[in-house]
Amino acid sequence: MTIETCAKVNLTLEVLRRREDGFHELATVFQAIDLTDRLTFRRADSLSLEVRGVPVPSDSRNLVHRAATLLARTYGIEPAVHIRIDKRIPVGAGLGGGSGNAAGALAGLARFWDLPTSDDELAGLAATLGSDCAFFIRGGAAVGRGRGELLEPLPTLTGYSLLLLGPRESVSTPAVYRALQGFRPDAGAATELLAAGLRSGAVPPPSAWLVNDLAEPAARVSARVAEDAEILAREAPGCAMLSGSGGAWFLVTEPERAEALRLELATIWPTRPMWLVRPVAWGQRVL
Ligand code: C5P
Repeated sequence: MTIETCAKVNLTLEVLRRREDGFHELATVFQAIDLTDRLTFRRADSLSLEVRGVPVPSDSRNLVHRAATLLARTYGIEPAVHIRIDKRIPVGAGLGGGSGNAAGALAGLARFWDLPTSDDELAGLAATLGSDCAFFIRGGAAVGRGRGELLEPLPTLTGYSLLLLGPRESVSTPAVYRALQGFRPDAGAATELLAAGLRSGAVPPPSAWLVNDLAEPAARVSARVAEDAEILAREAPGCAMLSGSGGAWFLVTEPERAEALRLELATIWPTRPMWLVRPVAWGQRVL
């Protein structure tokens, strides 16, 4: 059995405050996109993982390994499966690739092992693996609150293409949160504005809501992110934003403009991976 798992961008990402438990209270709009990885499950005597495409660990440091173990333990069964991960989503990019893989492993293995479970239950398990992991159980678009695990589904963004720029270096999420220097008093407003627009079907232009409170701290942590920020503010004002804690960027553009924009940016970064992607209404699916 093979499944496909999405990446995401944060169309808004607002940090409200630091919490007692060390995490940060967020208001964010997640949007799943059709840049995907594949997970293939095969019956085996014990749990093993094989990762192709990018060098990531295949032991219990891998979120998919932890997801399989967690699901099997929850249902009192042996995690007897071989999982092959074919990766295209860059890691350490703020695109949620590893979280999507883990959510896909939970939902996919629940089917593979024929377990009596529900999306709510799977999302609860996913939330223990990572703050943005629960989002990928249903995917599409959603407001994320709390650590990002309290989700309210939204209609998917339509009428725009997204041009993704791969990270020039991977960025450590905890380091970015540590580099935050304060909180905006109106944090949360952009998320409300976009969420209301998506619900009503009248989305204001991206310049009205495109915000990421992690962009500045990420630029303090990574010189590459700082350089990208400067170039994109000049080349694509009002439509480019860092995804999550970086270092991938995305540009929100009318579909007709997307290819010209890609060609223009390719003159600045000739070897940088770029993907023209679409918002999608799912998070993972069986192929
Ligand atoms: O939950 P996840 O493993 O994705 O979080 C990685 C790190 O990012 C956390 O250990 C924490 O330092 C930071 N984080 C945070 N507030 C959030 C999400 C993540 O401070 N809402």
